Amino acid sequence: FSATTPYTTLPSVLLLGPSGAGKTALLTLFERGPLSQQDQSTAAVAQTHTSQVPSTVELAVSTDTPSSSNNNNSYRTDLDATGATAKKFLLIDTPGHPKLRGHALSHLASSTITPSSVASASPSAETHKSKLKALIFTVDAASLAADDDNSSSTLSTTAEYLYDVLITLQKRFHKRSGSRAPASVPVLVAANKLDLFTALPAALVKSRLEAELGRIRQTRSKGLLDSGVGVDVGAGGAGEEEGEGWLGGYGNDKFSFKEMMEFDIEVEVLGGNVIGEGPGADRWWKWIGERV
Ligand code: GTP
Ligand code: MG
Repeated sequence: FSATTPYTTLPSVLLLGPSGAGKTALLTLFERGPLSQQDQSTAAVAQTHTSQVPSTVELAVSTDTPSSSNNNNSYRTDLDATGATAKKFLLIDTPGHPKLRGHALSHLASSTITPSSVASASPSAETHKSKLKALIFTVDAASLAADDDNSSSTLSTTAEYLYDVLITLQKRFHKRSGSRAPASVPVLVAANKLDLFTALPAALVKSRLEAELGRIRQTRSKGLLDSGVGVDVGAGGAGEEEGEGWLGGYGNDKFSFKEMMEFDIEVEVLGGNVIGEGPGADRWWKWIGERV
């Protein structure tokens, strides 16, 4: 064993979720955080387009314990100006389009990421592998509410993507052996667009996703769906233990995110919004800060 780590790069947080959920908008908001209120206007954040390639920004979150009087844990805080202790990390935006997800999912199978491009001046991050610390799965809470009885509704397509993400993490957990275990990666389900009056509150986003994930689990275990849709992380085949291809607690009737704790995967659902009036993005930022 080598006592020294020859090189450490910044840890990374991966943004996943279906197209239009607000990943790029969120990244833009966090990236522009330290600027004035004026620069964070809706217009600046709203100008996004369907992402085709992953993009990475370098951010810093305060590690100071927030006291009631200061607000160091906001992405708006200019850490250089306040002199707070900062922890740097990479936020990686990925395309949500179904045909472009494979690359994002492939990141999850291993514990390291090689960011494809870093916007800020950090040449080291481009050539060195980054440790995946957390995952943010962004969900459009307004469109989840919109179409309950449509078979290809946003709920089912969103849940299918989330299913692929969680099962990949679970298979990763199974692959670990002894001391070389990949660290567990917590998942934040960011219920976005709560500024819209049609949006479901976070608690409902959670229960609807859980119900849908349970349904998908049932269907996939019956082999009615092509399981090759997701990313093959090589866990399949003859050596597979009973229940290994089953998401969450084996044999459970209903699915709940808590089941993922069996595989050391914490899943939390928090509501917020990038644009407009609402709870904002501070809780998500705080969640990141506690995990990088
Ligand atoms: P892909 O790149 O296709 O995967 O999508 P994305 O997840 O990056 O979505 P993007 O950030 O481009 O946002 C899609 C649309 O949702 C944009 O028009 C955003 O302005 C809008 N949007 C993002 N966040 C919010 C929000 O909190 N509230 C509202 N009302 N709109 C939002
Ligand atoms: Mg995008």
